[in-house]
Amino acid sequence: MNAPIRPMPIPIGLLAELTHRCPLRCPYCSNPMALDRRSSELETEDWKRVFGEAAALGVLHVHLSGGEPTARADIAELTAHCAKVGLYTNLITSGVGQASARLPALFDAGLDHVQLSVQGAGQATGDLIGGLAGAHAAKLAFAAEVVRLGLPLTVNAVIHRGNIHEVEAIIALAVAMQAKRLEIAHTQYYGWAYANRAALMPTRAEADASVAVVEAARERLKGTLVIDLVLPDYYGLYPKPCSGGWARRSLNVTPSGKVLPCHAAESIPGLEFWSVREHDLAEIWRSSPAFTAFRGTDWMPEPCHSCERRERDWGGCRCQAMALVGDAAATDPACSKSPHHARMVALATAESVDPNPPPYIYRRIGGTAAEPRQGEPVA
Ligand code: SF4
Ligand code: FES
Repeated sequence: MNAPIRPMPIPIGLLAELTHRCPLRCPYCSNPMALDRRSSELETEDWKRVFGEAAALGVLHVHLSGGEPTARADIAELTAHCAKVGLYTNLITSGVGQASARLPALFDAGLDHVQLSVQGAGQATGDLIGGLAGAHAAKLAFAAEVVRLGLPLTVNAVIHRGNIHEVEAIIALAVAMQAKRLEIAHTQYYGWAYANRAALMPTRAEADASVAVVEAARERLKGTLVIDLVLPDYYGLYPKPCSGGWARRSLNVTPSGKVLPCHAAESIPGLEFWSVREHDLAEIWRSSPAFTAFRGTDWMPEPCHSCERRERDWGGCRCQAMALVGDAAATDPACSKSPHHARMVALATAESVDPNPPPYIYRRIGGTAAEPRQGEPVA
């Protein structure tokens, strides 16, 4: 019997990485190690065209992201254009740099939602992990202004060895900020986080304890705060449906205009990415080699191909399979059915109990230096 013909999925979200510039230097940054420079960024009119094409394609949400998206002087103009073409806008921001100064204009432009990152529950952890003195205080001021304007606020905290002991306090911080939603997201190990994995990996006991803290808080804070939890991959039984499944739900546009099925896709050698400078977004979604490479289930090897979960997690994460197995088409080693799963768990366990983890490699354009930048001491 022939396999059923499935209709082409329609993306609902677009992650617009407007710039890789950012005042923070988080060691778990999801941007690639080779960051795009300002000189290669798309122009305002390019982004406007992309947003129009996205709306025509059926996209509902645009995540204005980076780097730090408010580093772009045209951020309000781009937000207004999204509103004009009917896209819901979510600003994903660090709350530092130009964020507070540009917030009133963003509000006037019709911004719908703000997602603010925090690196810790207080100044000491927050400034150390973000690699910028004064960052935490700036975030508090920014959050207060978001709430004063009446914009819905989500707080996002990436969790790892350096702040996992603060999960309860981060929940209290989100309540104090009057956020409606909190994402407690265990680190996903791609890009800078992969390079820093040995410094960031918590123990299984710490990960389990953090999950228990979140579950108790969810009960306690019903009606006040919704808490989303991204579980730690390395200690799980099954992988996550990464990006909702390859080329099924969303697309990413990089600062220079390349369109990716997920934020880490450039870590897979041999994939061909088309650019919005040369192609319409709908054409890229339908036919770009990077998007068709792992769409659906036909590409899957065993054990995924005959697995009853194959349309729930879509085989997990291609970038993780590439990073840990050296084959992007392999079953995600986060899956307990993968022949590489035990090695992945052993790796995480060994790194997490090392009493002398390596120092952070702080994110920066054009290098991987571990030391703080001149004039920007960390706490
Ligand atoms: Fe998912 Fe593949 Fe594991 Fe099945 S075998 S649970 S489809 S990753
Ligand atoms: Fe690329 Fe998961 S990050 S597929």
